[in-house]
Amino acid sequence: MNFHVLTLFPDMIEAGLHTSVTGRALQNGYIHLNAVNIRDYSKDKHKHVDDYPYGGGAGMVMQPEPIYLAYEDITQNIEKKPRVVYVTPQGAVFNQSMAEEFAKEEDLIFLCGHYEGVDERILEEIVTDYVSIGDYVLTGGELPAMVMIDAVSRLVPGVLNNEESAEFESFHDNLLEHPQYTRPVEFHGKRVPDVLLSGHHGNVDKWRREQSLKRTLERRPDLLEKADLSKDDEKYLKK
Ligand code: ADE
Repeated sequence: MNFHVLTLFPDMIEAGLHTSVTGRALQNGYIHLNAVNIRDYSKDKHKHVDDYPYGGGAGMVMQPEPIYLAYEDITQNIEKKPRVVYVTPQGAVFNQSMAEEFAKEEDLIFLCGHYEGVDERILEEIVTDYVSIGDYVLTGGELPAMVMIDAVSRLVPGVLNNEESAEFESFHDNLLEHPQYTRPVEFHGKRVPDVLLSGHHGNVDKWRREQSLKRTLERRPDLLEKADLSKDDEKYLKK
């Protein structure tokens, strides 16, 4: 899968993603990263990419032309017009099912805004998805783009190995994951729950399901509405 990022800070994108699991996936060729500096497409002799807002007001607005030229450069070699995600606090809030949708694409373009925003005309022309990573405001779109690329990358076949596999993780079925323990058996006076030491797989599974349900009820009750619950599950939730 190919991730293209239109940004004023390509180094930030490169540094963030050439690390850890995404770094390994890039190295092994399961994903590709094309961080494009919008400034390289400025025709201005000082390489300006922003200007004052028409109608007045604070801040600067990113101009449409450099973004368009960078977009054209990326898309000229791609047969099917790729989805273009404008990363903005004014978008729909990113979630796991969006990550799953994006992971089906061969190419995905992220447009990272800065300053007070981006000229509306270029957004109308190229953007297909307006996406936020939550109801708070960051200094730019680079961190949100990296968050989304990370979440999408781990769904691309080959990126995770067996141990890292997505099978039993939080949000897989709208439930939070059960607690995990490793050695030692006792730490600061707290013992690992006996059931996990019992070797009884049936009981371990039951305990994990119960913990998962209780944890979701306590921390993210909103998720339970979307979860697929059995009669036994309902019993745990009442206890
Ligand atoms: N740009 C600034 N804040 C943002 C957010 N929360 N999500 C996406 N893009 C942003």
